[in-house]
Order: sequence, then structure tokens, then C-alpha cells
Amino acid sequence: MQTFETGAEVRRTVENWRGSGRRVAFVPTMGALHDGHLALVRRAGESADRTVASVFVNPTQFGPGEDFERYPRSPEQDAGLLAGAGCDVLFLPSVEEIYPPGHTTFIDLGEPALGLEGDHRPGHFRGVATVVTALFQLVRPDVAVFGEKDAQQLAVLRRVTRDLHLGVEIVGHPTVRESDGLAMSSRNAYLSPEDRRSAPVLHRALTAAVEALRQGERNADALRQTMAEILAASPRVEVEYAEVVHAETFRPARQVNGPIVLPIAARLGATRLIDNLRFEPPN
Ligand code: PAJ
Repeated sequence: MQTFETGAEVRRTVENWRGSGRRVAFVPTMGALHDGHLALVRRAGESADRTVASVFVNPTQFGPGEDFERYPRSPEQDAGLLAGAGCDVLFLPSVEEIYPPGHTTFIDLGEPALGLEGDHRPGHFRGVATVVTALFQLVRPDVAVFGEKDAQQLAVLRRVTRDLHLGVEIVGHPTVRESDGLAMSSRNAYLSPEDRRSAPVLHRALTAAVEALRQGERNADALRQTMAEILAASPRVEVEYAEVVHAETFRPARQVNGPIVLPIAARLGATRLIDNLRFEPPN
């Protein structure tokens, strides 16, 4: 695996590959890699001939008072893990490489970036959409792989890619979990031992709601209630939202009559966790 710090080097390498007919996949990350990220890299390897991954802790997607400064950083370990998962190029840019001095241009988003994470983290998706678009321009992949763990982010990036004709195929990959159901996340490293023990309640609330859906429940408020009751039984967990939204728009649903996402965001101490499950009623 080669590591490049400049967009020019990555672009030259990818242009060479594409010139000889190779299909190129891209996996953007913020590093502190875990098995969830590595599953995306392996998936990229299955969908293309060459894989590029980026590790860039993107300042513009963090709000004031969020964890940009203390976000875990482990570039050497990440490089070893990526090489082991079959990555061909690691793009490790500086902030100046992505945001030229005087950078002022951002992407202005509508649905599905409104509500949920859009409300709780103002400006977050604006930063995500802008950096992913910039990375796509530098790397110019055929296909990019993102995790369903961040379901609203995936929906936003599908929309941006379509609306701005970015010409990159977007692939979603299922959430990778610990054995007790907790979705893997770089932020799990922040959890105290007690909070770590409470954290699987998010997944328990989601699976209970999906079980109710399988039994035929179609009333969204009843599903919200099911999730809220399970989450409330864990006093360490401070819920931000436990919702039922339409999968395309991320607008709240009243009845389940098409694909929906159940997204949860909660705080355990100072750590903010998100998780979700998707459900599509059989017709
Ligand atoms: P990051 O949180 O590092 O995640 C990088 C990718 O890994 C995202 O597509 C995310 O959905 C996926 N991922 C994280 N945990 C996962 C899990 N447990 N199972 C499956 N996939 C998982 O998301 C970002 O970085 C940034 O917003 C980024 C898109 C890189 C833009 O800066």
C-alpha cells in the first residue's frame, strides 16, 4: 500500500489505473479505524479492482464544543489495518490540502439533511457534503462505499451525488456490531466501563421496534413508544431522539407503508452515540 499526502499524487495514480481500464473504489474515513471501517474497505475490494481510502478528521463537520480536538487519531495503526484489508492507496491529507487558504465554498443542503442530525448538529452535514465532494474531485473514483451506521449521512450523500451529477456510484454497507449489539464506532473508545455496559440498549430498543414491525405494527407513535420505554429503563442514557422516518426523506412517518429508518441518538456521559435499523414492509 502507498500513502500519499497530496491530492495530485492520488489523482495521478487513479488516472493511471483508470487509463488501463481498472475500476476504482473509494472509502472516506476519519481514521481511528475499527472492523466497521475495514468491512467497507473489503467491500470496496469486491466492487472494484483498486481501493483508495482516506483518513481525514474533517474540521468543518464538527460544531463548536464538539470533539474535533480530542477525536482519536492513530494514523500509523490505521495504515497497517488498511494494508491488511487490501487497500492500495491511503490518502492522508492535511487540512490545507483539502481546504486551500481562504476556502469559502460550501454545499447548501435540503432534505434529507433536515431534522435529526441536521437539528442536533447544525452545520454537520454541510461539512460532510463539502468534504466528500472535495475528496471525490481529488480521487475521482468510480464507486464509493459508506456505512449504513450513519444512515442519514448515507442518504444525504446519495442525494448530493445525484443532484450535483458527481458521477460516483454510492454503495451502502450494513452496520458492523460488537457481539452485544453495540454498533462499532471510533467514539466507543470514549465510553467509561459503566457506560459501555449500558450502550447496547440502543440496539435493544431498535430490535424491539423491528420485532413489533414484523408482528405487523404500522403505527409510528407506537414504535416510538416501544423504543422510548426500553431506553428509559437505562438511566445513564440521555436520549436525543428515537424516531421513525421515511428512508428517502428522513421526514417523520405517521404510518409505516414503505421503507423506513429507525434512528436513535443518545448521550452516555459525554459520549454521543447514534444507531439505526431499516425496515421495509413486505407487500
Ligand atoms: P467515520 O465516522 O470515520 O466513518 C467512515 C465510514 O465508516 C462511514 O461511511 C461510516 O458510516 C462507516 N462506519 C462507521 N462505523 C461503522 C460500522 N460500525 N459499520 C459499518 N460502517 C461503519 O463518517 C465519517 O467518518 C465522515 O463523516 C466522512 C464520511 C469520512 C466525511 O468526513
